[in-house]
Parts: sequence; structure tokens; C-alpha cells
Amino acid sequence: MAVEAGRDIAPAKGKLGVMLVGLGAVSTTFIAGVENVRRGGGLPIGSLSQMGTIRLGKRTEKRSPKIKEFVPLADLKDLVFTAWDPIPDDAYTAAVKAGVLDRHEHLEPIKDFLQGIKPLPAAFDQYYVKRLQGTNVKRGKTKRELAEQLREDIRGFRKTAGVSRVVIVWCASTEVFITPGPVHQSLAAFEKAMEQNDPAIAPSMLYAYAALMENVPFANGAPNLTVDVPALQHLAEERKLPIGGKDFKTGQTMMKTVLAPAFKARMLGLAGWYSTNILGNRDGEVLDDPESFKTKEESKLGVLEYILQPDQYPELYGNVFHKVRINYYPPRGDNKEGWDNIDIFGWLGYPMQIKVDFLCRDSILAAPIVLDLALFFDLAQRARLSGIQEWLSFYFKSPQTAPGLYPEHDLFIQQTKLKNTLRWLMGEEQITHLGIEYYEKA
Ligand SMILES: NC(=O)c1ccc[n+]([C@@H]2O[C@H](COP(=O)([O-])OP(=O)(O)OC[C@H]3O[C@@H](n4cnc5c(N)ncnc54)[C@H](O)[C@@H]3O)[C@@H](O)[C@H]2O)c1
Repeated sequence: MAVEAGRDIAPAKGKLGVMLVGLGAVSTTFIAGVENVRRGGGLPIGSLSQMGTIRLGKRTEKRSPKIKEFVPLADLKDLVFTAWDPIPDDAYTAAVKAGVLDRHEHLEPIKDFLQGIKPLPAAFDQYYVKRLQGTNVKRGKTKRELAEQLREDIRGFRKTAGVSRVVIVWCASTEVFITPGPVHQSLAAFEKAMEQNDPAIAPSMLYAYAALMENVPFANGAPNLTVDVPALQHLAEERKLPIGGKDFKTGQTMMKTVLAPAFKARMLGLAGWYSTNILGNRDGEVLDDPESFKTKEESKLGVLEYILQPDQYPELYGNVFHKVRINYYPPRGDNKEGWDNIDIFGWLGYPMQIKVDFLCRDSILAAPIVLDLALFFDLAQRARLSGIQEWLSFYFKSPQTAPGLYPEHDLFIQQTKLKNTLRWLMGEEQITHLGIEYYEKA
């Protein structure tokens, strides 16, 4: 196969500013994690960009460099952080409250560093996150004014932190469910709607708009609509900026996108999939509100439909009962428990059951995803990849795609897509797994 020339990628020179929307459990676990890794206090486990390797060429060539050595990613030592949050706690206080990392082992030793990260006032409106009250908020007559203030924050951060590039990752609470409407169709309509304080413009959209106007890539870790609207997609394409979302794929959905493709690969039928969760962090509290839960539910439910393709396999997947529940249960904090009861059927329709009980830690699974997204979105910008970054679907529960395409949810197809994109960027051969050349010698 002909080897492509690869893409011109600007070097990762200087510092990379990571601006996080939200300074809660996920953000603080990410920031504190990176700082611990930088000081030799732990390994970035769960991060493909840091721990993963990539096979190049034929299996006989035995070339498998680490991804971070293969593509020019920003080095962890060059990351600088800041965040916005309506709750004024600094990153140390927020991390202690989140209760994810061990205070003595992973927070006390970097206390000064974390205390230095104080949240910028947020563009926040309780209408979109009912269970939260915040005091550290921006004031402005219109949503447009708030967006302009966010743009100033980005410019200010560039200057004071001395960073040469910036990426923004939404790690803030899940907003209420919004469907795309007329104001999301064009930039002109979107800007007018900001001026008119239209309720269809959620705060997350203001951050996304501000990011794009300041030449900053934007990744959305929650299921909110945010950049999944034509107005912002066109803006990203026009300005040659990468965008993506939605919703970090961490615990239960990660398992679902591993198991469902296995059933389908073996042509086993599915009668029902009941998923329930207990979790007691602030995210759980926010999701206890039916309107925020609706946003999450949509994101979690789509997965099976796309993987199983009931239209093509009506006898196997034409009648699946799929239910997802999230129950706020404070005693567990961030240590979520997710149960899945899966009713499958095999040969001649005989039923079988699979039970999964995943005692996971939400933010421990999410932090490496934030890191990889920040690094890969920065890489994408330097490689002039613009618009939706479907090759990063690997990280999302509800991946954005170009109009008319259905999302790819199978974790291993997503992984192949990601790695093949990296090979393509670097001018290496695509790996097809055909392998006939090992058996049929010319
Ligand atoms: N942890 C996971 O496994 C996981 C997986 C997928 C998605 N997520 C999503 O990631 C997000 C963060 O999760 P978390 O556990 O850190 O939640 P969290 O509640 O601990 O933190 C969210 C923070 O966002 C802040 N916030 C809310 N609205 C804001 C706004 N408009 N601007 C700035 N800040 C705002 C809140 O004050 C809070 O501090 C949630 O939306 C969650 O659904 C998490």
C-alpha cells in the first residue's frame, strides 16, 4: 500500500493552556493527577496518549512506539491550567470537597499549586442547572455580553499564563435538555439570540462561541447540546478549529460499548438491558433533577440502537427493552456503583443472563479522558483539522458526527479509527488487519 505523505503539523512549541469549564470532581482530579504525575507521584493510568503504543507497518517490523513519542503532543510539563466555576472554591478546596483523591497522598503535597488555581467567575444561570447555586458569576445585560467577558478571560489567560496555545474542555454540570431550534442554525441567528437572551442559548454555548471566536478548540465532556449545532459547527469549520463532544465515555457506557458489539459479532440476540447506578457526588445531585437527567438519558440510550442496528437484524434486536437509571445516593460520593442486567438469547431463542456490577470511580475514569482530549484537540488544531473530530469518538458516549452520518459507538472500531488517524497524520500505512501477505508469499 502506498504510504501517504502525512500532514504538516506545527510543533508543540511553548506552553499549552487548558481552560476547564467547571472546577468540580472531574476537573480537580484531572489537574491534581497531572501535577502528581509531573512530580513523580503516580502514573497517568487510563490515558491512551501517555500509556498507549501504536503499531506501525507489518507485524514483522516490530515497530510499536508510544503514541506520545510518535505524534508531536504537548508535554505534560507544558500544561497550564485555569477554570471557571460559579462556586468560588480554589482547586485544593474543591478537590478536598469532591473527595476523590486521597488528601494526604495526592492533595497535601501539591496544596500550594492547587490553591493557586482560583476559578474565574462563570457564565452561569440556574435555569440550566437547577440543583446548583453559585455566587462566583458574571453579570451582564445580555448573553452576548457574557460571551464577550468569556473572550476577555481567554485573552487574559493567554497573556498572564504566557501560553502559546489554549484548549477548552467542558467539565461542568449537565445542563437541562435542549433540542436544536431555529436560533442554532446560523451564526447570525445565534448571535441575535444571544443579544435577545433567548432561552435556547445555554451557558455552555456561550463558552463554545467564545472559544471559537478566540481560535480555541472546544471539547464537550457533558451531554449538553453545546457545540452540536450547525451555527457553531460552521463557525469551527470557517475558523479552522476542531470541536467535539458529547459526554465522556467512562464507566457503564464504556462497558456497554464493549459488550454490545460482542453480542452482535456472535449474532446473539438481546431482549433487554437494564442499567442502574447509585452515585453521591455533585454530578449525581445535579442529575437528580429530571431535566438534567433527560439530557444524560438521551446520551446513554442512543448507544445500543446504533451498535445493534435493529433495522438490519429485527429477529435479534427488533424488540430490545433498554432502561437507564441514575439514583442520587450521597453515602457513595464519587464511588459509583453501576449495575447492568442483560437478557440475551442464543441458539433457537434460549434465554441467558449477564450481570455486571461495576464498582467504579467516576472521576478516576474521566480524568485521563480530559487529558487525552486536551492533548489531541491541540494536536488537531496544529494539524489544521477543523470542525467535528470524529476520530476522537473513542472518548465520547454520544459522539458528534457530520450531518447524515450515524455515530460509531463500538469502542474497538473507535480505537482503530483513532490510531489510523494518527498513522494518517504521520504518513504511516493504515492497518487493515488483512495480513494475507504473511501467508501468500509473492
Ligand atoms: N465523571 C464521569 O465519569 C463523567 C462521565 C461523563 C460525563 N461527566 C460529566 O462531566 C461533568 C463534570 O462532572 P463532575 O463529577 O466533575 O461534576 P461536579 O458537579 O463535581 O463539577 C461540575 C462543576 O461545574 C460547575 N458548573 C456548573 N455550571 C457551570 C457553568 N455554567 N460554568 C462554569 N462552571 C459550571 C459546578 O459548579 C461544579 O463545580 C458533568 O456534566 C458530568 O455529567 C462525568
